Amino acid sequence: MIGRLNGRVAVVTGGASGIGEATVRRFIAEGARVVVADLQGEAGQALQSELGDRTRFIQTDVSQEADVAATVDLAVSSFGRLDVMFNNAGILGAVGRLVDTTAGAWHATLGVLLDGVFFGMKHAARVMIPQGSGVIVSTASIAGITGGVGPHAYTACKHAVIGLTRSAASELGQYGIRVNAIAPGNTVTAMTAAAITGDPDQLEEATRTIASTSLLGIPGLPSDIANAALYLSCDESRYVSGHTLVIDAGHTSNGGSARVHRARPALLAEAGRRTPTTASPDV
Ligand SMILES: NC(=O)c1ccc[n+]([C@@H]2O[C@H](COP(=O)([O-])OP(=O)(O)OC[C@H]3O[C@@H](n4cnc5c(N)ncnc54)[C@H](O)[C@@H]3O)[C@@H](O)[C@H]2O)c1
Repeated sequence: MIGRLNGRVAVVTGGASGIGEATVRRFIAEGARVVVADLQGEAGQALQSELGDRTRFIQTDVSQEADVAATVDLAVSSFGRLDVMFNNAGILGAVGRLVDTTAGAWHATLGVLLDGVFFGMKHAARVMIPQGSGVIVSTASIAGITGGVGPHAYTACKHAVIGLTRSAASELGQYGIRVNAIAPGNTVTAMTAAAITGDPDQLEEATRTIASTSLLGIPGLPSDIANAALYLSCDESRYVSGHTLVIDAGHTSNGGSARVHRARPALLAEAGRRTPTTASPDV
């Protein structure tokens, strides 16, 4: 079988869980070799043991530039090149009201969600520029498209990831490097299970809740985002750069609300009309 990533080498940060793990599995199935980078040592090692020779795990804290540099260097020393950098590691970070948010919590969140993506882009570009090719994909969020669907620091970082994606795409295109982002809506992972139920292992309850609030009535799954990452990482998207692909069942396309479609049509039809209609019934 010829996979869509045959011969390609990828790094996936946050690859030991959720969206990252699903992407690692999808990339391997499509013929890639993958460096899995994550803070979680045990889960990362287990994934490497399961997937075998075409993966390497490295314990990485993406908020530390030296860790990200070492991750990229591992891809090159193990597999000879770097074709795809997926900056995906994330946390929800500082939560709560603006007035209660400490500078420490704010900066720690930016360290993972924004510095981590910047370091990933920078060190991927270091290898991809001399190579004359490459793809960088970063996980933003619908919290990077609109306000009010995530905590403040998270929202600021995800907006920034979309801005940095556009900025990097405008510089790196001349070297044959495409730079894109993905903005997932609610997706069933440990992160959302923790946010919804307080327990990262309560995936079933998270699935039910996410399905019940989705415009399509189905839950967003890590595989839905992995499919988007695959598209943006393979040659099918060869003319796509600087783009943010929203994967949210339509949530942001209507401002996050379907209320207008549920209101009584007769009332809506009359809304704004102050006098009885003068139109002839024959018109
Ligand atoms: N699940 C959703 O609904 C959703 C929606 C929009 C965006 N996202 C984004 O998707 C990405 C993946 O999240 P997920 O939902 O799969 O959650 P997850 O918790 O299943 O996976 C996140 C992974 O990132 C790793 N990680 C966290 N901090 C790290 C660090 N400093 N260095 C290295 N690894 C680190 C974690 O160990 C974990 O394995 C995140 O960027 C998140 O913001 C998720």
